Parts: sequence; C-alpha cells; structure tokens
Amino acid sequence: MSELSAAFVRLHARLAPVAFVPEVRLHQADEPIGLWELTEGEFRSSQPPPFWAFAWAGGQALARHVTDHPEVVAGRRVLDLASGSGLVAIAAARAGATAVRAVEVDERAVAAVALNAEANGVRVDAELGDVLDADAGDAEVVLAGDVFYSEAMARRMLRFLLRAARSGARVLVGDPDRAFLPRERFHALATYDVPVSEALESVRVKRTTVWELDPNPPGTRRRGQ
Ligand SMILES: C[S@@+](CC[C@H](N)C(=O)[O-])C[C@H]1O[C@@H](n2cnc3c(N)ncnc32)[C@H](O)[C@@H]1O
Repeated sequence: MSELSAAFVRLHARLAPVAFVPEVRLHQADEPIGLWELTEGEFRSSQPPPFWAFAWAGGQALARHVTDHPEVVAGRRVLDLASGSGLVAIAAARAGATAVRAVEVDERAVAAVALNAEANGVRVDAELGDVLDADAGDAEVVLAGDVFYSEAMARRMLRFLLRAARSGARVLVGDPDRAFLPRERFHALATYDVPVSEALESVRVKRTTVWELDPNPPGTRRRGQ
C-alpha cells in the first residue's frame, strides 16, 4: 500500500459504521462533493473519482447478504472484484472465507481496502490491477458490488464473470437497478432497501438486489460469449 494513498484516505475520510451493514466500519467521506473536487473531478484529471470513500448500494446489499448467509463464503476462497472501500471483501472475511482477494484499479482504493480490513480486524489481500481480461484464478466465489454503472465496464465485467462461472466459481453481484446490468443473465437471491447518500444517488433509499449469475441461461447457450 502506498503511504501517500493511505495518508490521503486517513485525511479525507473517517471511520464510521456502514448504514446497512453496521457490523463493518469503513473510512467514509461525510459528503461527496468536496472530496470529488479534491480528486479534481471525473473528467478533468487522470485521478479516478473517490469511489472508495462510499459504501455503494450494490456493495452494501452484497455485504449484508454474505453477513446474513455466511455459508455462501465460509471455508471458500473469495475474489471481490472492483472492491472500492473493501466492504464486500471485509464482510466475506468476517463470514469465514478462507482467503479474500480484493482487486481494484485505483491505488487509493487499494489503500482504503487495506486500512479498512485492518480496522475490522480481518485479513484481505488488496491488489492493484485490472484483471478483467484474465481469469478469476483459484477463487471459488466471485463477488462484485455495483459494477454495472457504465456500458464499457459492464461489457468487460460480464465477460469476466461468465468465464469465472463457467470455470465453476459461484458469482454473485449486488446491483441497484443500474442501467447496464444484463438482467437476463442472472437470477435474484434477495432484495433489500439500502440507505444511500442522497448527494450521490438523489434518493435516500435504493432498492437493491443480490443476483447470481447463470453461466448458461436458457436462450443464451448458443451465443458462445
Ligand atoms: C461504484 S464503485 C463500487 C465499489 C464497491 N464494490 C461497493 O459496492 O461499494 C466501482 C469500483 O470499480 C472500480 N473499478 C473500475 N474499473 C475496474 C476494473 N477494471 N477492475 C477493478 N476495479 C475497477 C472503481 O475503481 C470503483 O472503486
């Protein structure tokens, strides 16, 4: 973890319980706008927006689900893809996963995952990189919270998740009805009303579903994706 990134996370976010998963504490920003400007805005710099400073609806639902249903991850190797704050990875570790790998493309997110894991007294291997064109390694369960927010991300993410599922991994995603979720590929496991930041989402609560990927759903078997 870069010391500079860790210092940035400590300076601009404070440890607080997650609204829908209060068992987990994360470094979170009180309000997004100031921090967003500090990272120079999504379109004005090479710095990514500070996704790591918020517990997104999809991640909160997935973390709640794993916490309430530890059998999903207990005794298994877990990959948390696009981990952000590390919320889902931490929930998986708390629920008894044997190993948890959290992958992120944002260096500050990697620092946040490491600091947050430490604050919650669990071990998570936080890794910087883009693995979407590779495979899920030895993961038995792949978790991804709130990753279908852009068309480009959704396309790459689906391909990765399908490869993982077809190699035998169980694949769960949390999604609050984002525009690019390929719903026909999934079946719903649970739905929650998740408290969210009004400044980010324009609403206070988002209905959010935990979905499981069907590697070969009817009607898609011949497409060979
Ligand atoms: C909306 S946030 C969700 C974070 C977290 N999973 C949650 O639900 O709170 C999306 C995250 O995806 C990360 N991301 C974007 N592209 C990625 C990629 N190719 N590989 C890994 N992470 C990526 C971003 O840095 C960001 O932290």
